[in-house]
Amino acid sequence: MFAVKLFKQPFDNLEGISAEAGLLKMLETTGITPKLFGILQRTSEGNHPGIVQELVQNSITLYQLIVGQPHFITKQKWYNIAYQLAFGLKSINEKGVLINDLKSDNVLVNINTDECRLTFIDMGHASYMHGKRFPMTTEEAIIYNHLAPEIKHGEETSESSEVFALGWIFKNIPLQELSFISHKCLSSIPLLRPSVYDILNFVEEIM
Ligand SMILES: Nc1ncnc2c1ncn2[C@@H]1O[C@H](COP(=O)(O)OP(=O)(O)OP(=O)(O)O)[C@@H](O)[C@H]1O
Ligand SMILES: [Mg+2]
Repeated sequence: MFAVKLFKQPFDNLEGISAEAGLLKMLETTGITPKLFGILQRTSEGNHPGIVQELVQNSITLYQLIVGQPHFITKQKWYNIAYQLAFGLKSINEKGVLINDLKSDNVLVNINTDECRLTFIDMGHASYMHGKRFPMTTEEAIIYNHLAPEIKHGEETSESSEVFALGWIFKNIPLQELSFISHKCLSSIPLLRPSVYDILNFVEEIM
């Protein structure tokens, strides 16, 4: 089964679509992103272009899980989720990829598996081997909680802005033990944030 992400911009951005597809292909060996099947080109009939990818079955977004906090998500499962978030970010960054838009909407949770398997979707803002700037207005800057303050001030994304985004998710996960590390990840000074390896070690300790 597959999912098709269609692109409906008035002028379709084939370069952006191929870049996103290329990154998904590169990340396939991590096992934590949807498999890429191919690109749908726009046809003369005016169909929208799209990315054909593996359909992540029985899943809801991590955002929905955090908001709903269903009783069947035990403490152990929340630990597994926190671990997979740190492990997933590490695996993606190690491939030279920055997600640049890591947030709970862009993570799917398979609630039918014991460990609550995560899949990182949406590489629409990701970059390879370099950071990216996201120019934005003051109004936009206020809405995007998961973006590190330096990004809002026009600096390039980096591994430490990824850590900031992870810290924001951790802050919203209902585990008291994560508040210490999430606070450090959310430091406004990038150099004071832990590395993704520090975070992984920390989560392993508390599990
Ligand atoms: N491979 C997939 N399998 C199952 N559901 C998916 C898959 N990819 C995306 N979805 C669903 O579609 C939604 C939107 O996907 P995605 O985040 O890739 O696009 P987007 O939100 O339009 O991009 P952006 O975040 O830039 O606005 C997701 O929240 C998820 O519910
Ligand atoms: Mg998205």
